[in-house]
Amino acid sequence: MSDRWYSKAVIYCLDVDTYVDSDGDGVGDFRGLIGRLDYLVRLGVTCLWLNPIHPTPDRDDGYDVTDFYAVDPRYGTLGDFAELLHQAGNRGIRVIIDLVVNHTSDQHPWFQSARSSPDSPYRDWYVWSAEAPPDRHQGMVFPGEQDETWSYDRTAKAWYYHRFYRFQPDLNVANPRVREEIKKITAFWLQLGVSGFRIDAAPFIIELTEPGNPNSPKDFEFLTELRQHVQWRRADAVLLAEANVEPDGLVDYFSDGGGSSNRLHMLFDFMLNGRLMLALARRDPEPIIEALRDTPALPSGASWATFLRNHDEIDLSRLTAEQRNEVFEEFGPDEEMRLYGRGIRRRLAPMLGNDRRRLELAYSLQFTLRGTPVLRYGEEIGMGEDLSLPGREAIRTPMQWSYLPNGGFSSAEVEQLVRPVIADGEFGYEKLNVTAQRHDPGSLLGWFERMIRTLREAPEVGAGSCTYVDVLAPPGVLVHRADDASGAMLFLHNLGTDRVTVDLQSLAGDAEFPNDVFADQEYDPVGKLDALELAGYGYRWIRLHRSPAG
Ligand code: GLC
Repeated sequence: MSDRWYSKAVIYCLDVDTYVDSDGDGVGDFRGLIGRLDYLVRLGVTCLWLNPIHPTPDRDDGYDVTDFYAVDPRYGTLGDFAELLHQAGNRGIRVIIDLVVNHTSDQHPWFQSARSSPDSPYRDWYVWSAEAPPDRHQGMVFPGEQDETWSYDRTAKAWYYHRFYRFQPDLNVANPRVREEIKKITAFWLQLGVSGFRIDAAPFIIELTEPGNPNSPKDFEFLTELRQHVQWRRADAVLLAEANVEPDGLVDYFSDGGGSSNRLHMLFDFMLNGRLMLALARRDPEPIIEALRDTPALPSGASWATFLRNHDEIDLSRLTAEQRNEVFEEFGPDEEMRLYGRGIRRRLAPMLGNDRRRLELAYSLQFTLRGTPVLRYGEEIGMGEDLSLPGREAIRTPMQWSYLPNGGFSSAEVEQLVRPVIADGEFGYEKLNVTAQRHDPGSLLGWFERMIRTLREAPEVGAGSCTYVDVLAPPGVLVHRADDASGAMLFLHNLGTDRVTVDLQSLAGDAEFPNDVFADQEYDPVGKLDALELAGYGYRWIRLHRSPAG
């Protein structure tokens, strides 16, 4: 069995400020989170990914940092954070944090110094141009909210580069002192006890920006350097990066081509994410099959992190315009549900019409396909979005714990809350919360707990290979399998609405005592695999064999 913990993990992503508020100031905090670790253990989570925890003017939900060596005082003290690491570790939960070093906030003392004078020791920590770069209206990440990637700074009397908002100046990774500082930041948090980092905007970090060149070269060597550094400091630390790039550019992020991964351990599987959405929208598995086929083979030791929803909009930019429109029509029919012309700012439950069968199907797919599953907080109870909030805030509302005021998130007055709790309609906290689902054995939360526990007994999922089984299956049905030395699992998913029968007797020779270990309902025993029933939106996890040696 692989001892790389990250390929068997269940990662849970949360924003401390919207999770639990322990001191009644309206903002979630570390102590509140410590109080809910047992909830996360019961759910089956083995690794927490915390969205940025540093001091910030909060103009991009913390992705605009003013001090990389401290925690946002609203969340508690560094001591509270160390206590969180300890308490999580006691329960077998690892913690990784966002590493947001493509840019800083414009309020960061480094940038304040850099802009103040050409002689500042921090001047070259950022990317400047004396002239207006002709490509300054290209490469924006937030079209509609950002109209340039170079802005003129009157204090500096020069143009500075910012891949994201203008208040997020890019750090200059070509500067060896910046590289050293980034390494120092990682060393600091590893020393405190984090198990690794979610690297924000990886392709932009390594960009060696040249004014006037919209396709500036990339320095992949920095990723090799960073990996070496991190691994020396903590051998089992993981680097999980956001790199939403074309398939033929992916492998460079994992490795320098030497056969095993010596750069990043994991990448989010954006490619599969878009195709999963398309497949669900069409009720047809073909886009998933294509994604499994078209993605390059990974170097050994490298893994995918698989997700349906994250803290951002669903990014459909890798689909064709036609495919994107299909997904928009099905899951984001109203203009207010869409963002930046490429994405959907909704949570999964409302997207799928709060249809429990379809939700289970979607999550069963996510958790059984290749890679390590990443779950966004609140998805386990099927939370909704608040489209009256601007941009991405729609999907960043507080966790709904109970029937108490503010859904048990905070005892503060409503006006004091960091963000309003969803209070009305079928997704309001009086209808939808953790406590209510605890009292209901058939709840989505209960389903997630059972599903994750079953997954824990199937180590070949995530750590092993994931392959599409090319058999003649009824339309709408995806058959795939997971294999490694510990055993083999077979998965059937019906993305369509019709009840079907699937004949998989060609796989019977590979099975010892095949049996259902998890399914949307009780089915007849699998027998010789020649007449497997599958309900509309149904799924079956069938164990083919298991090595007694594990
Ligand atoms: C990443 C984050 C996003 C943030 C951006 C800038 O894409 O996921 O939330 O706005 O980086 O840091």
